[in-house]
Amino acid sequence: MSQALRMDSDKVSPKIKAPYDVQAVRKRFPALRRMENGMPVAFLDGPGGSQVADTAIEAMANYLIRGSANVHGVFSTSVETDELLLRARAAMADFLGGRPDEVAFGANMTTLNFALARAMARDWREGDEVVVTEMDHRANVDPWISAIEDKGGTVRWIRVDRERLTLDLSDLTSIIGPKTKLVAVGLASNVIGTINDVRTIADAAHSVGAYVVVDAVHAAPHMFVDRDALGADAILFSPYKAFGPHLGVLSVKADLYDRLQTYKVLPQLEERPDKIETGTLNHEGIAGAEGAVKFIASLGEGETTRDKIRSAMEKIEEHENPLAQWVRARLKAIPGFTVYAASDDVKKTPTIAWRVKGMAPRDVCLHALKKAIYIASGDFYATTLAMILGIRASGSWVRAGLAPYTTREEVELLVESMEELAV
Ligand SMILES: Cc1ncc(COP(=O)(O)O)c(C=O)c1O
Repeated sequence: MSQALRMDSDKVSPKIKAPYDVQAVRKRFPALRRMENGMPVAFLDGPGGSQVADTAIEAMANYLIRGSANVHGVFSTSVETDELLLRARAAMADFLGGRPDEVAFGANMTTLNFALARAMARDWREGDEVVVTEMDHRANVDPWISAIEDKGGTVRWIRVDRERLTLDLSDLTSIIGPKTKLVAVGLASNVIGTINDVRTIADAAHSVGAYVVVDAVHAAPHMFVDRDALGADAILFSPYKAFGPHLGVLSVKADLYDRLQTYKVLPQLEERPDKIETGTLNHEGIAGAEGAVKFIASLGEGETTRDKIRSAMEKIEEHENPLAQWVRARLKAIPGFTVYAASDDVKKTPTIAWRVKGMAPRDVCLHALKKAIYIASGDFYATTLAMILGIRASGSWVRAGLAPYTTREEVELLVESMEELAV
């Protein structure tokens, strides 16, 4: 740590009253012991994928060690696999809201969203419309564009206010109308962190009889998610962003789920949740997803698992948000740096995007790597946002994301490393 950074109190990250023991949390993530060139690694690419909690790793290993199997058999390992699936669906319902029999698992969020889009589009007609946003990850854009184009329909866009870096909801009623079948929106931007007013968009969609599909992949590791309170008819999530393994999760409200004509093989069950789950699932990954929810719940207090998750997410916000706010302010103050963030009054996840004048974003990451800081560059599939801001051709952004295990020392090291690039 540089002397200047330590001595000037304005320049030191806020000493928040810790909502939990960060060092104890760090011990639960074996990967955090990793060293690079003799230095401890600062894992600041959480939005690309978090590190995995001990309970998730153990659950995956135990499933394989005790004997894996396919489902619906008479023997113990098969029965245990059926039980695991039931428990994991319940864990995901605890995490996202909704009911266990509304939860489907798949390879990843993108694959599940394509399956959902194909199923929902079966009864769409020429002239129908879908609404997507300029802020979303393309995983919640292209499945809907493909599906509506197949039917000869139209895509409408909710624009991003270029100055405010929030969704422009001023002309929502002219974008969402009687022809709208579906509105797809992200709960939070995986690059600039803006948390969107999903409820207002959902109310507008429902007032014309359209469905709402919410991408919670980026938001869910940083805030308490309640599918029904958001007004989502379907919500998607990826456990590998929240301390679990690579997997996708979809939760669809029963009335929509029951109506879906999914593309499926003949012997596959017609009922929810199985009807959208093609092929054999990733049972060990599903065990890990349950383990990840256990980790999150263990940070909180309350009667039920859902109460514990709510309390844990509040603590995670309390830990992450002041540090992120400090990083944004410090980076903004460095000559030649442009931070892409909505104003302070807009709620954000602890995900920070910036550019350095005259430097390719990838080179900024390589500079950070000299101090074993792991940050990433690119458009992160928020491709539309990078295009409308005119930065895609020049490498888009550098991005850092905080996690519950991120320390003050790590974010100070990041700022110190970036200050070396002052123009
Ligand atoms: C906001 C957001 N949505 C969707 C995805 C895609 O998720 P998956 O990799 O599970 O398909 C990502 C992955 O980075 C994401 O950040």
